[in-house]
Amino acid sequence: MKILVTGGAGYIGSHVVKQLLETTNNKVVVIDNLCGGNFNPIPVLEKIDKNNRLKFYKENLKNFSKIEEIFKKEKFDAIIHFAAYIQVGESVENPIKYYMNNTVNTTNLINLAVKYNVNKFIFSSTAAVYGEPEIVPIKETTPTTPINPYGQSKLFSEKVLIDVANSANSFKYVIFRYFNVAGCDPKIRIGETHEPETHLIPLVVKTALGKRDKIYIYGDDYDTEDGTCIRDYVHVEDLADAHIKALDYLENNESDIFNIGYGYGFSVKEVIDTVKKVSKKKFDVEVTKKRAGDPSVLIADNSKIMKKMNWKPKYNVLETICKHALDWENKNS
Ligand code: UFG
Repeated sequence: MKILVTGGAGYIGSHVVKQLLETTNNKVVVIDNLCGGNFNPIPVLEKIDKNNRLKFYKENLKNFSKIEEIFKKEKFDAIIHFAAYIQVGESVENPIKYYMNNTVNTTNLINLAVKYNVNKFIFSSTAAVYGEPEIVPIKETTPTTPINPYGQSKLFSEKVLIDVANSANSFKYVIFRYFNVAGCDPKIRIGETHEPETHLIPLVVKTALGKRDKIYIYGDDYDTEDGTCIRDYVHVEDLADAHIKALDYLENNESDIFNIGYGYGFSVKEVIDTVKKVSKKKFDVEVTKKRAGDPSVLIADNSKIMKKMNWKPKYNVLETICKHALDWENKNS
């Protein structure tokens, strides 16, 4: 197969491209405008690619005619779509930026998929579509009521996929709703370098390595055991593996939506303690005010993906996730 990976130079996309090159015989075409961070993984991925199966276009998805030219030329069999803006806070301040990129450009991509008979579409969605769920663990059937434009922009794209699949017989999708993705390639060749970084684990490892003075805990009076928020942290390598499985899944199964998480969570304090343990470093921690829009507990019910895709996590230990994130940050010092 020839697979288009949009955002294939981003954090999650690059890990999926790496697995496509290492564990499948597929050809991979990456479209990415390299705007998401200060590390370009393409040269590393080109080294991993032993038989010239990787091709890279530096292009922005908003350039519809350029994207269509690529579709005409390459004749894709499947699309894995990552390219998106991902900062919740920014989406509240600048919603149009999010709707234009995450919804309008995705709609154009779906349109091209149908026009050029690309019938498999794997979409990177988010737990943010659930908003503040009343019941955890969260099932895929939990009502979707996003509380910010980021989650809403992804939910709109989900709806477009569902409507298009209903109207075009052969078009099928897998929608993945990610919980908190962290860690990196176990060989530490590629990793997470968002700019700016807002996620907990990379910020804590930066603090452990002395790149930041302290780590701030956003609120310690949540209704949880230690008062800090609980999240379901999933290793990017396990997450990437689900995308490889989805390509096979769509050969013989119908379109569907899956959560990706481990089904249990850790508090902010537990994450900080784990980084202290694996780094053997002491660092300052300060409790500050709550961040707007943070739900207290987000944990996936992952029984659907385990059962229907036979997804079996391999890196589901918080120490491993934090150690890989630490080693990556150390390498990039
Ligand atoms: N946190 C801190 N200090 C920090 C950074 C984060 O205490 O310096 C806390 C947050 O308040 C939250 C937890 O650590 O309770 C995790 O925060 P992240 O920013 O790492 O991740 P989020 O849970 O906010 O975000 C994730 C995804 C988003 C998605 C969201 C859904 O990264 O894409 O879940 O709620 F939108």
